[in-house]
Amino acid sequence: MNHASAVMKGYSAFLDLECARTGERFPADRLRNLSPAGAPLLARYDLEAAARTLRPEAAARRAPGMWRYHEVLPAPSPEAVVTLGEGMTPLLEVPRLGARVGLPHLLVKDEGQLPTGSFKARGLSAALTMARLLGAREVAIPTAGNAGGAAAAYASRAGLRAHIFLPLDAPAVHKVECTLAGAEVTVVRGFIHQCGEIVARRASGEGWFDLSTFKEPYRVEGKKTMAYEMVEQLGGEVPDAIVYPTGGGTGLVAMWRAFAELEALGWIGPRRPRMISVQAEGCAPLVRAFEAGAEGASLWEQPRTLASGLRVPRVLADFLCLRAIRQSGGTAVAVPDEAMFAAQREAGAAEGILLCPEGGACVAALRLLRERGDLGREDRVVVFNTATGLKYADMISVDAPVVDPLGAKDVEAR
Ligand SMILES: Cc1ncc(COP(=O)(O)O)c(C=O)c1O
Repeated sequence: MNHASAVMKGYSAFLDLECARTGERFPADRLRNLSPAGAPLLARYDLEAAARTLRPEAAARRAPGMWRYHEVLPAPSPEAVVTLGEGMTPLLEVPRLGARVGLPHLLVKDEGQLPTGSFKARGLSAALTMARLLGAREVAIPTAGNAGGAAAAYASRAGLRAHIFLPLDAPAVHKVECTLAGAEVTVVRGFIHQCGEIVARRASGEGWFDLSTFKEPYRVEGKKTMAYEMVEQLGGEVPDAIVYPTGGGTGLVAMWRAFAELEALGWIGPRRPRMISVQAEGCAPLVRAFEAGAEGASLWEQPRTLASGLRVPRVLADFLCLRAIRQSGGTAVAVPDEAMFAAQREAGAAEGILLCPEGGACVAALRLLRERGDLGREDRVVVFNTATGLKYADMISVDAPVVDPLGAKDVEAR
């Protein structure tokens, strides 16, 4: 199907793609990866046109979920959308947890409630929508795990074949979810960037479309809906700070761009949240670059963290992440693994929310940020829990006594 011919008037205000480095524009008439300058391609919209129908009251009347913001998403019509029913995720008040970390106005946006159990559903719903529309038959993705699970599921939903490349130490659940979704799974003795090198080498020869983070232009579009939803849930306000677990940086960059769109649409004013990036001490290329005042992040040798989503040693969109953090007046902070797992238990016990280790990293960072003065007591802070803790069940040891049922001996005797 040709993109232009499928456009339904007013459904999407998508215009074209722009190189994040040079500003050069490209029509969205075919499958594209990086720009000729080797940089990510980012979508542009006619926001004036979008603003005519995408008003907060109108959005509120539509079905909850990311596609309610269809004017600022690339799908040309509702029929083109590849969806598994990604609903609006809750923005939870967590007063007990907030009191413990000295932030009474703390909120958690729980992305674990999306299809495939992580925020990756948003990006891959958008990416597979466009991949199918523009004629892809097979897709490939290097992944820490969650993106692979979502890619496999949305590819099947789109009727496409998926090839998933995961590091050997990715949590077992990801290999299972990809297999169950009918994908071809390859386990690589290496890190995610080395999975990416295999995909890049094989994609063109095998006729696969490469869905790698930021090499594919629409995942970032799907992910920006986290910010749209949050603003809607806050009644048109932005929080003082967003605390976000950063691997490839898609969510961070996507939300930062979304705030500019939201202002152009008239949903918010010029105020912005401080974007705070959280990484693991054993793999913190962005934190190191931020602290050094650098514009780009170099490869982190020998990454070591159990939070697989944060085990991303090379960040393709490093300059976009660092720009978002700095322009917002935010910061970047690394936490040890023990602290993220402790925070996971603390949040679960205090509020009943099942954080993934990456979400745990953010909660662990809160105390540090309070101590450093990066967060004030009165700040309204939103932590993103990017996946359900259930996906990481095998990392948690359970110390439970085993007892016999009441009357077990009597039953045996009979
Ligand atoms: C649970 C989880 N959180 C965070 C991330 C990092 O995502 P981003 O690319 O938005 O930085 C990932 C990526 O794999 C993830 O799986």
